[in-house]
Amino acid sequence: MSRTDWWRSAAIYQVYVRSFADGNGDGTGDLAGVRSRLPYLAELGVDALWFTPWYLSPLADGGYDVADYRTIDPAFGTLAEAEALLAEARELGLRTIVDIVPNHVSDQHPWFKAALAAGPGAPEQELFHFRPPSDEPPNDWVSEFGGVPWSRTEGGQWYLHLFTPEQPDLNWNHPKVREEHEDVLRFWFERGAAGVRIDSAALLVKADGLPDMPGSADAGEHPFHDRPELHGIYRSWRRLADAYGAVLIGEIWLPDAERFARYLRPDELHTAFNFDFLARPWDAAELRASIDLTLAAHAPVGAPATWVLANHDVTRTVTRYGRAEDTGFAFERKRFGVPTDLALGTRRARAAALLTLALPGSVYLYQGEELGLPEAEIPRERIQDPMHARSGGVDPGRDGCRVPLPWRADGDGPSWLPRPEGWERYAAERQAGDPESMLSLYRTALRLRRSFRDAGPLRWLRTDAPHLLAFARALPDGGTVLCAVNLGPSDAALPAHSELLLASGPLTPSGALPQDTAVWLRA
Ligand code: NOJ
Repeated sequence: MSRTDWWRSAAIYQVYVRSFADGNGDGTGDLAGVRSRLPYLAELGVDALWFTPWYLSPLADGGYDVADYRTIDPAFGTLAEAEALLAEARELGLRTIVDIVPNHVSDQHPWFKAALAAGPGAPEQELFHFRPPSDEPPNDWVSEFGGVPWSRTEGGQWYLHLFTPEQPDLNWNHPKVREEHEDVLRFWFERGAAGVRIDSAALLVKADGLPDMPGSADAGEHPFHDRPELHGIYRSWRRLADAYGAVLIGEIWLPDAERFARYLRPDELHTAFNFDFLARPWDAAELRASIDLTLAAHAPVGAPATWVLANHDVTRTVTRYGRAEDTGFAFERKRFGVPTDLALGTRRARAAALLTLALPGSVYLYQGEELGLPEAEIPRERIQDPMHARSGGVDPGRDGCRVPLPWRADGDGPSWLPRPEGWERYAAERQAGDPESMLSLYRTALRLRRSFRDAGPLRWLRTDAPHLLAFARALPDGGTVLCAVNLGPSDAALPAHSELLLASGPLTPSGALPQDTAVWLRA
């Protein structure tokens, strides 16, 4: 636990608290549940835990509508329990990252309630983006969840919300907004958080006057994405984080790799999620292009890359890779009833796990991926994610990857989202004793990864087949660790090696690497 640069190569496990483990049996995951499963996480072999928002929240957007950033939602537990959890995790060698939501608050946050009570023109309203009543919304922006990002107060005033109406956007030009968030950071760093994940990190600042979208916006001219003023905010956060030895991790969706990397300059954020990699289909050329693009973009700023296969917003990996068309990534592109080959998806997900865990940088593992959970199809009447309704019922939303984890081989208790039929076959308890299970693969891979995660840079190996991705990283002892992934359509010869460390599936009888299989080798 003494390394200060641990985040450069860490494996970080994402805990979606509401669906991780249920300590009191009421159907909702909670901190007691997490505490009881800390040994499971330590044994899995991750270095840190990232908790999605656990704060007081009416749950209009799964907790990303925060009513109080310093209080744990009573459905999850208490602040004292969170403090105990941080301490217990630390004892087991697990660092903790908390989720900070700076772009918006809940409409139940005291600031927004005060702004509504105070009415037009009051200083309380300056913390948000209010506009006077008018027939049309104040500008032509489109919500990140689709539709108009403006709603009316009872008095007819408009207020801006880039997400749901229950998530009013803060005015980041107001000094009080900046002070408050720095204070929230301090609050969690003082309680031992090793870092923060910053929600919607490229959205906070809006262009003065909230102008309409320009006909064609050059990079840096979008009225609410990637505004230049953000860099000053993150420089200030960095000074604060450095005082505590804490790390800043940005949720930044930006197609332009060079603009993305600007957030990772040495005096800004430490790392940011790499959504380009997550968005690519299971295709050798695509994945290789994404890896090259990522490494090239990070190199000039000296920041480590991050690798993400899944999170609480996207379709589960085994489902995504088991579909002919990848419709799982972007908001508004999910559909009901897409044909899925889960056996194929699972083979690919196993191979993808070895690919991801061998790349230089840090890696994020979303809860349940280690169990190979598929995306669940939730009956319409049980769907809670607001994206479903906002899409007019076309998009099933994100609940399918948020179903509570299966722990017990004989079935778990009630759950806030229904667990699909036969879900027990994925139970952690069942997989723990099966050397062929996804859980066993992840455990072995994470253990082995510790021995080479700080190995040298990636060097591609020349291969005979374009569908075979193979790379090497030099080890301090003069050896090399190799990763080879066959994305099909035919078997491929393994690169020269002295030892087979791990395979995501069986090799052919002649020792070749079949389609949709990956290996780690030593040379
Ligand atoms: C990104 C989060 O990951 C997502 O779950 C949330 O809905 C939006 N930001 C808004 O906070």
